[in-house]
Amino acid sequence: MRSPLLLGAALTLFAECWLFRGVTAQNFTDEQLVVVQNQLAAGASHSWEYGTRAEALLELTAPSYSVFYPSPLPPPQTIPPSVNLTAVLDIARTTVANRSASNGNITGPQPLIADAAAGDPCSIGVAVLLANWTGQGASDGLDYAGAARDQLEFIMSRVPQTSDGAISHRVAELQLWSDSVYMVPPFLAYYGVVTGNQTLLLEAYTQISLYRNYLRDKKSNLWKHVLFGSGQDLGHWATGNGWAAAGMLRVLATMQRSQWSNEMYNLQSDLAAWIGEIHGGMYSYLNTNGLFYNWVDQPDSFYDASSAALLASTVYRLSQLWNVHTHIPIAEQVRRALAANSSDTVDVKTYPPWPATPTASPSSGATSSPTSTSSATFTSSPSSSSETPSSTPASTSASPSSTPATNPMQNLLHFTSDGWLTPVVNPDSWGVEGAQSPEGQAFVLDLQAAWSDWVQAGAPGANSARVGAAASRVVMAVAGVVLGFGLLY
Ligand SMILES: *[C@@H]1O[C@H](CO)[C@@H](O)[C@H](O)[C@H]1NC(C)=O
Ligand SMILES: *[C@@H]1O[C@H](CO)[C@@H](O)[C@H](O)[C@H]1NC(C)=O
Ligand SMILES: *[C@@H]1O[C@H](CO)[C@@H](O)[C@H](O)[C@H]1NC(C)=O
Ligand SMILES: *[C@@H]1O[C@H](CO)[C@@H](O)[C@H](O)[C@H]1NC(C)=O
Ligand SMILES: *[C@@H]1O[C@H](CO)[C@@H](O)[C@H](O)[C@H]1NC(C)=O
Ligand SMILES: *[C@@H]1O[C@H](CO)[C@@H](O)[C@H](O)[C@H]1NC(C)=O
Ligand SMILES: *[C@@H]1O[C@H](CO)[C@@H](O)[C@H](O)[C@H]1NC(C)=O
Repeated sequence: MRSPLLLGAALTLFAECWLFRGVTAQNFTDEQLVVVQNQLAAGASHSWEYGTRAEALLELTAPSYSVFYPSPLPPPQTIPPSVNLTAVLDIARTTVANRSASNGNITGPQPLIADAAAGDPCSIGVAVLLANWTGQGASDGLDYAGAARDQLEFIMSRVPQTSDGAISHRVAELQLWSDSVYMVPPFLAYYGVVTGNQTLLLEAYTQISLYRNYLRDKKSNLWKHVLFGSGQDLGHWATGNGWAAAGMLRVLATMQRSQWSNEMYNLQSDLAAWIGEIHGGMYSYLNTNGLFYNWVDQPDSFYDASSAALLASTVYRLSQLWNVHTHIPIAEQVRRALAANSSDTVDVKTYPPWPATPTASPSSGATSSPTSTSSATFTSSPSSSSETPSSTPASTSASPSSTPATNPMQNLLHFTSDGWLTPVVNPDSWGVEGAQSPEGQAFVLDLQAAWSDWVQAGAPGANSARVGAAASRVVMAVAGVVLGFGLLY
């Protein structure tokens, strides 16, 4: 072991393992995802939670029936045996079957579930449209098309609007919420492709465009949360920005896979740009732990993991749909941070180099600490050195090893032991931290689905991350060799 090169290599490997241990955190396992899904199913109790759950289940468990699937819309009317839509169709069935009870036996225009929110019940609309499209009424006798039509007419004609036509998120008063972009336009767009009505696709775009005009702050590109009416929230609510980006993506995908894709190209292009605006605004405020503050630019609010999950999902989707990969390295970091276990050190700013890091100086404690620990391996590695200095460090880092088959949520940094994402904003009271967020559970599924579709598409844009990682490896290799010389001579 007289070679400084060997020693350098050993040191480099160790330093790499040490530096990157914060990001070796795996992929969510299937067992973990099942727990997340079960808690979502158990916890969802509001209209938007049913709708958001239906969307997450589509994307993760029946992707060929999600708008992100790369084939023309609408999907096959006959559900292939390989596709299980049961859980999604159950949401539509329960909602429509209970409609007269929840709405007091009224007829004509009405929401799918009577609710103080005008926008939220529309989120269940896509599941109801799918139930109609796949002919569920023939076996269960429910009028899905009628329920969808009533919901459409209600949102278009029975709800307050701004003078230029932005539809209120609330029934009783005119109020625009960033949340609404996820609830309403994707329903309008999907209604359009299923019924062959281009006007509705255009309406989806128009609503988004109007909402952006009202809610976006031009300086930061962050969206306000609630404008007009009683109890406004002019703050930049993290989840609200996520809702807006995610809703725009679903409309973009729906347009792109529709029969009018070519003639509506410029509208898609706008949507992609507007999603990118939000990414740029939001990620300049990401914290080193991979989370946003509840109001992103207010450090005196609390950390929220649900918005981090939702927004990261939109990064993979934008990459997949529009070949914009700018924020892929950041999304990868966030994803790893959310899947980290409690012994991982998470500092999303140490790897890989980010395209832009406007906030918080890249204070790298990373450069100083590895050297202090490296002396420890320095003593152990020489013995095994000659051929494979890799064996020792490798075994410490990657461990898909056999942890006793107990609770799959054990030791996760961002989940309680019973599988709830944490920390999260209270979904029923956006100013305070909550304990259990059904929408947060759905966002974890959205993230997994978006990431896994992106991986299947060949992980476009991952190169930018790899280039950064490769560069830092070269730096470390050189440093390792220099250090090797220093220690030997
Ligand atoms: C991620 O997890 C899924 C399911 O748990 C697994 O099938 C897949 O191979 C994993 N992918 C990677 C890159 O680890
Ligand atoms: C389809 O999904 C439902 C609910 O998720 C599940 O209960 C059922 O067993 C699944 N069916 C098949 C054939 O896998
Ligand atoms: C049906 O509607 C009633 C009345 O609004 C409500 O109390 C009940 O929880 C609903 N049931 C389901 C399964 O949604
Ligand atoms: C709706 O109709 C059902 C059956 O006709 C009846 O039992 C129920 O009381 C009605 N509900 C309301 C709110 O009118
Ligand atoms: C319901 O499905 C049928 C096809 O079975 C379709 O022609 C019709 O447009 C759909 N209606 C709605 C409101 O989606
Ligand atoms: C398309 O939808 C709009 C809005 O609901 C409606 O006014 C119009 O009649 C529809 N067009 C067709 C051809 O159904
Ligand atoms: C947590 O991660 C570390 C390193 O990434 C790994 O060594 C450890 O086995 C993991 N623990 C669990 C419980 O997964």
